[in-house]
Amino acid sequence: MAAALGQRDPYTHAHAQRVAAYSRRLSERIGIDGDDLRAIILGGMLHDVGKLGLSDRIFSNKQAALSKEMLGEVQSHPLIGAQLLSKFKCPKAIIEVVLCHHERMDGSGYPFGLAGGEIPLCAKIVSVADCFDAITTDRPYQRRKSLTHAFIIMKEMAGACLDAELTDLMIQEIKANGTESILPVDPIATPLLQAV
Ligand SMILES: [Fe+2]
Repeated sequence: MAAALGQRDPYTHAHAQRVAAYSRRLSERIGIDGDDLRAIILGGMLHDVGKLGLSDRIFSNKQAALSKEMLGEVQSHPLIGAQLLSKFKCPKAIIEVVLCHHERMDGSGYPFGLAGGEIPLCAKIVSVADCFDAITTDRPYQRRKSLTHAFIIMKEMAGACLDAELTDLMIQEIKANGTESILPVDPIATPLLQAV
């Protein structure tokens, strides 16, 4: 499914690989392992899979500002993704990541407006990784920021938008181990898929 999305939108595919790798590093930093870790990695890879259901005009749009109608369509991708995955025997944590990765700590996110502790930990982790990668890579409408600038932006987002503790740990992880985010064909993700 992640590869299918890559056929429609190459940036999103590469982004998903990096988000999976950053999510793995952040999860390992807080001691998550086993099936929980595998689910978070797969959730990182699949977090935007619902974009498969968006219309072509969204992918061809290169403007930062979307019309209200287009924004509404883009914001439907967590629900589309969760509905898609729910047709398979997919671990709950993966669906939670897909569904809740745009929720915000202050309740201003989507699709449900969940706040703080209502947001599953797995989704909070992927959300931090997602934001970090979005800030530090070139997009059609936005140049990448330096690491120093990225850390400032992340700290501004911590609390209201991102989980403050996880954001701090992500910054520590990047400072300690750099931005290496290559995720080879993931040997630990495979057993989970075979097991379900
Ligand atoms: Fe997303």
